[in-house]
Amino acid sequence: MGENGEAYLLMLLCLLLHSGHCNSFDGIPYDYSATIKCMAVPARPLYGGGIFSNSMNWTSRTRQNVHLEEGNLYAFSAWVQTSKGSGIVVDAVVRTSSGELHNIGKAIASNGCWSMLKGGLSPNSSGLAEVSFQSKDPTAEVWVENVALQQFTMKQWRSHQDHIIEKIRKSKVRFRIVDRNGSAPVPKASITIKQTTPSFPFGCGMNLHILSSKPYRHWFASRFKHTTFTNAMKWYSTELVQGQENYTTPDAMLRFCKKHNISIRGHNVFWDNPKCQPQWVKNLTGEELRETAAERMNSVVSRYRGELIAWDVVNENLHFSFFEDRLGKNASAEFFGRAHEIDRNVRLFMNEYNTVENNGDDTAHPVNYLRRFGEILAYPGNERIPAGIGLQSSSFGHGKPDLAYMRSGLDLYGSMGLPLWLTEVSVDQGPHQGEYLEQILREGYSHPAVEGIIMFGGPEEAGYKELTLADYEFSNTEAGDVVDRLLGEWKSPITEAEADEEGFCEASLFYGDYDIAVRKAGANSVTSLISYKLSSAPGETAVHLRVGD
Ligand SMILES: *[C@@H]1O[C@H](CO)[C@@H](O)[C@H](O)[C@H]1NC(C)=O
Ligand SMILES: *[C@@H]1O[C@H](CO)[C@@H](O)[C@H](O)[C@H]1NC(C)=O
Ligand SMILES: *[C@@H]1O[C@H](CO)[C@@H](O)[C@H](O)[C@H]1NC(C)=O
Ligand SMILES: *[C@@H]1O[C@H](CO)[C@@H](O)[C@H](O)[C@H]1NC(C)=O
Ligand SMILES: *[C@@H]1O[C@H](CO)[C@@H](O)[C@H](O)[C@H]1NC(C)=O
Ligand SMILES: *[C@@H]1O[C@H](CO)[C@@H](O)[C@H](O)[C@H]1NC(C)=O
Ligand SMILES: *[C@@H]1O[C@H](CO)[C@@H](O)[C@H](O)[C@H]1NC(C)=O
Repeated sequence: MGENGEAYLLMLLCLLLHSGHCNSFDGIPYDYSATIKCMAVPARPLYGGGIFSNSMNWTSRTRQNVHLEEGNLYAFSAWVQTSKGSGIVVDAVVRTSSGELHNIGKAIASNGCWSMLKGGLSPNSSGLAEVSFQSKDPTAEVWVENVALQQFTMKQWRSHQDHIIEKIRKSKVRFRIVDRNGSAPVPKASITIKQTTPSFPFGCGMNLHILSSKPYRHWFASRFKHTTFTNAMKWYSTELVQGQENYTTPDAMLRFCKKHNISIRGHNVFWDNPKCQPQWVKNLTGEELRETAAERMNSVVSRYRGELIAWDVVNENLHFSFFEDRLGKNASAEFFGRAHEIDRNVRLFMNEYNTVENNGDDTAHPVNYLRRFGEILAYPGNERIPAGIGLQSSSFGHGKPDLAYMRSGLDLYGSMGLPLWLTEVSVDQGPHQGEYLEQILREGYSHPAVEGIIMFGGPEEAGYKELTLADYEFSNTEAGDVVDRLLGEWKSPITEAEADEEGFCEASLFYGDYDIAVRKAGANSVTSLISYKLSSAPGETAVHLRVGD
């Protein structure tokens, strides 16, 4: 009600202003481009070659010395081809003066076209280092052109992150407050903009202790809107004994989530690690396993149809091959096809570890992941599957994360055009756990291709021993403080603004849900309270909000 008992109906006119002109970099912007396509001609060197601006051509015999500075981050790229063959793995390698070898990037190269090799390195020590290329097939010569090595300071690296956050997670919004008929502006109204929920999914794993612990429930629901059940949906949890399915626990967890509007990534339909099958499945073969797996698929995917935002359909099928070994090499592809038949809307993920965390793991390197997932999605019938790339990000250990390598990996994964999620982010206990966790979360949140982050951590009471976010008394650990600080930072602060004479006011806001309170000039109580969703969906450049009385 207005101040004279008269019912006002206000309208808010909202325009998303064009962004991109706003903030500047500290130094050189980062080049996020990447491709796994083999091209007829190599693209120009990124950064004009950076440290390697001499535009020389390399072979696998070329050695180049560079001085690397500890604390700086190095983005590396090149275009490679082999003198013969196809599908040949080529590594870019750095040997430090102490003799350590670091694989800083990898490409799958062929003869007749150029493949991009993209990578990076965050050195632990300063000094001279030797860069070279190695072919996994020693009989194939490697030709390399347009090599680039660009150095960034940590401060510059952060400025890239902050720039992307401004650009893709936020928007500058102009509101106009007009009268009930939408004709006359209402000048000088005060508005209070309060974000209720950010739209970026930054969530946390959850386990069955949530059902028995009220403090855990409160701890979770007061922070997160997205989750993954760490074990409760796995086959070994739902069918411990053959033929005796029991969904009591995940069903109850699902009810808790629904009550609190917490979205769930389903995890997982199958796990390709032979050790992680229900005991009774381990020795099944042939038709028996095929039928049993089909029953599992039908059971769990049908049960949660419409309830989940994602399924990890096959977990860790790069490192392991339990089902492929027994059912044929198309097993994963068939599982994806079947899951899609049962639930048409849920996004289907491959989910792997060491995909961005570890430059030493050849198996789960981005180019291998993308090649494998590309095959699965090209399998007859799978072409229209809504797919997603699941990067567990759980094996950083307790050492300093290599952010340069991580970002180059995200660039490559992003080149497939599918949503990327960091699905199980964790850092081991150690003196720098909080600091390293923050670095990893920031790198994910600020990458243009990343659409969601789930951590695998939680309170000590629930058994989270590695990434413990709260102690037995539910006081934050250092890592818990980091998480709470980032939850706060990635949400708009309560913003007070005053409309001008024309009814306009502007604010820079994170995407998500808002409550907006409008008080007309001179009124001493709120005239209107509006719910508003700021979304990045295209075509929503002008939104009219009807304001209640
Ligand atoms: C590198 O090789 C390309 C042909 O692939 C050639 O055009 C170019 O001149 C070479 N560059 C140098 C510096 O030798
Ligand atoms: C809105 O329009 C109606 C009729 O078109 C008019 O009677 C009324 O006075 C207008 N209200 C305002 C606040 O301008
Ligand atoms: C199913 O699981 C729940 C929770 O663990 C347990 O309480 C219940 O006894 C189980 N039901 C059967 C039939 O085993
Ligand atoms: C959940 O979302 C619905 C619809 O957006 C909303 O009406 C309801 O208030 C929300 N509940 C909670 C507990 O946030
Ligand atoms: C599975 O097979 C192994 C040998 O291949 C055997 O030792 C084990 O007892 C079998 N387990 C079951 C549950 O049948
Ligand atoms: C796998 O699928 C492909 C494509 O349909 C087919 O050509 C191939 O024969 C299949 N392989 C096996 C082992 O089933
Ligand atoms: C840096 O040191 C950590 C251990 O703290 C190690 O895990 C990592 O591989 C090292 N990285 C490089 C690039 O040397």
